[in-house]
Amino acid sequence: MIIAIANDHAGVEYKTELCEFLQKMGHTVINFGCDQTTSCDYPDYARKVTEAIQSKRADMGVLICGTGIGMSIFANKQKGIRASLCDNVFSAQLTREHNDSNVLCMGARVISKELMFDIAKVYFSTPFSNDERRLRRIKKLEE
Ligand code: RB5
Repeated sequence: MIIAIANDHAGVEYKTELCEFLQKMGHTVINFGCDQTTSCDYPDYARKVTEAIQSKRADMGVLICGTGIGMSIFANKQKGIRASLCDNVFSAQLTREHNDSNVLCMGARVISKELMFDIAKVYFSTPFSNDERRLRRIKKLEE
């Protein structure tokens, strides 16, 4: 899978370690930055990931900021994006199965790195259920 990843200044360290983790899982990672801890605006970086998915350059994405909230608000305003802010493994599993989520948002000031790895592992290993009623609900999200 090709995974686009981006973060703001609060997520640099988490992003760097997650890139390595995802590559070890066998994924191709496109890192859209930022790569410095100088203050920056999370929508500018979130946009790079959502556009990569919309253009089909990437299959799915990861966005990391301090809380994950700003990134998820931005991403969910973009067409075709279903972003999920996850701070636990159960939600990561269910948002893939139920929502066919395509962007994982996490907060570097909220969860530990170990939990981030656990969440990412489950999120990127869990397929959408492809169930008729869930497809119907996702269609309503698009509408
Ligand atoms: C940056 O200080 C912080 O606001 C940002 O990382 C994020 O948490 C916003 O939702």
